[in-house]
Amino acid sequence: MNEWEVDSWRKRPAKQQPVYADEAALQEAERELATLPPLVFAGEIEGLKADLGKVSQGRAFLLQGGDCAESFAEFSADKVSQTFKLLLQMSVVMTFAGSCPVVKVGRIAGQFAKPRSAATETIDGIERPSYRGDIINNVEFTEEARRPDPARMLKAYHQSSATLNLMRAFAMGGFADLRNVHQWNQGFVAQTAHHKKYASLALQIEKALGFMEACGINSANSPQLNKTSIYTSHEALLLNYEQALTRRDSISGHWYDCSAHMLWLGDRTRQPDHAHVEFLRGVRNPIGIKVGPSTAPADLQRLLDLLNPDNEAGRITLISRMGSEKIGDKLPPLVQAVQGMGADVVWCSDPMHGNTVTTSSGVKTRKVDAILSEMEQFFEIHRAQGSYAGGVHLEMTGDSVTECVGGAYQLTEAGLAERYQTTCDPRLNADQSLELAFLIADTLSRVKRQR
Ligand code: PEP
Ligand code: CO
Repeated sequence: MNEWEVDSWRKRPAKQQPVYADEAALQEAERELATLPPLVFAGEIEGLKADLGKVSQGRAFLLQGGDCAESFAEFSADKVSQTFKLLLQMSVVMTFAGSCPVVKVGRIAGQFAKPRSAATETIDGIERPSYRGDIINNVEFTEEARRPDPARMLKAYHQSSATLNLMRAFAMGGFADLRNVHQWNQGFVAQTAHHKKYASLALQIEKALGFMEACGINSANSPQLNKTSIYTSHEALLLNYEQALTRRDSISGHWYDCSAHMLWLGDRTRQPDHAHVEFLRGVRNPIGIKVGPSTAPADLQRLLDLLNPDNEAGRITLISRMGSEKIGDKLPPLVQAVQGMGADVVWCSDPMHGNTVTTSSGVKTRKVDAILSEMEQFFEIHRAQGSYAGGVHLEMTGDSVTECVGGAYQLTEAGLAERYQTTCDPRLNADQSLELAFLIADTLSRVKRQR
């Protein structure tokens, strides 16, 4: 195999890349990004890999979630705190039920670039370049707005940096105190229609906290109760940006993509001989691979050989996104293929991307029932194959949006228009996400009892 270099991807075909008209402006933006500080450090990246290694051995569970796409317009401290809070709330419920640590990874602080099914979009007979995420162009449907602008990479970097700064403060500064998180969950339980089902779990957590306090374990004397760690992730799609933030660790000499702790390879850019795989094979970060219904077992084995030749634990997370109707046929042969080669991976369920539908009035949505069904089948398939279902990957927001139909409040298609805010895929709102966390918790405690 050819020698890897930080820019060796440039010699390969690359899908889903913007065409920048002004080459000099692109080079200038890349040069500037390359001089800016890394967003995350090698030691943290290795820390996440070690945590994911525990997930692959069935000793922890992965919760990965956040926006489909972050945006420049919707950026605020409040928005970051709502997403952070939601990840914490979900993880507390899951930690308790599964009696295992939950590794928290946000789709945040860098999730700006979007793969699209078509290069152009036509509205009222006018054809323009598709919107590719705020790091590339603007969602507004004008020629000017849709033109890819390299300066947007710098804006995305600075927004990611501010987001990460706030997240680090929240993680260490008392916001993540277990008592707070539990109280937020009690608030959710009190107002939900399925009150009884969730109340008993919340009560058990209350008792466990009371017991610990009686034993003298509290947040004043145990940092484990009021500090946490949340990692960042995004799709490594815009390779100019990823390369500019890739740095060589001065101690080990290894390369790390310091734009996020974890990067994933999208379902549309996983061709083994193309640029995205070439770039990712040389950086030491944990890598997610989106595994869709068109992935053949041999394709997956080839990707694992290329991206994790030494079978390092925690390096690869396979993110299955089949759709509730296809997962039953498509996933089992892939699980067997992975087992057959003895590959050490985390299996994670993305029950969102295979379940996107368009309503009769043309709105993109997802049904909570289909999401639940895919997730339940994911757990069941892994149980039947003797493999560990290690995590979930969700598109969700702490805001009370109306983008997915169903859930405890039985949001209807007619209700979608009320607060439909996503610039890309429909997200679960806070209540729908928490409901899902309680259901995952149920499954985790069942799995635990069966062990
Ligand atoms: C995504 O996670 O936002 C995405 C585009 O996923 P996929 O590559 O699985 O379609
Ligand atoms: Co999406």
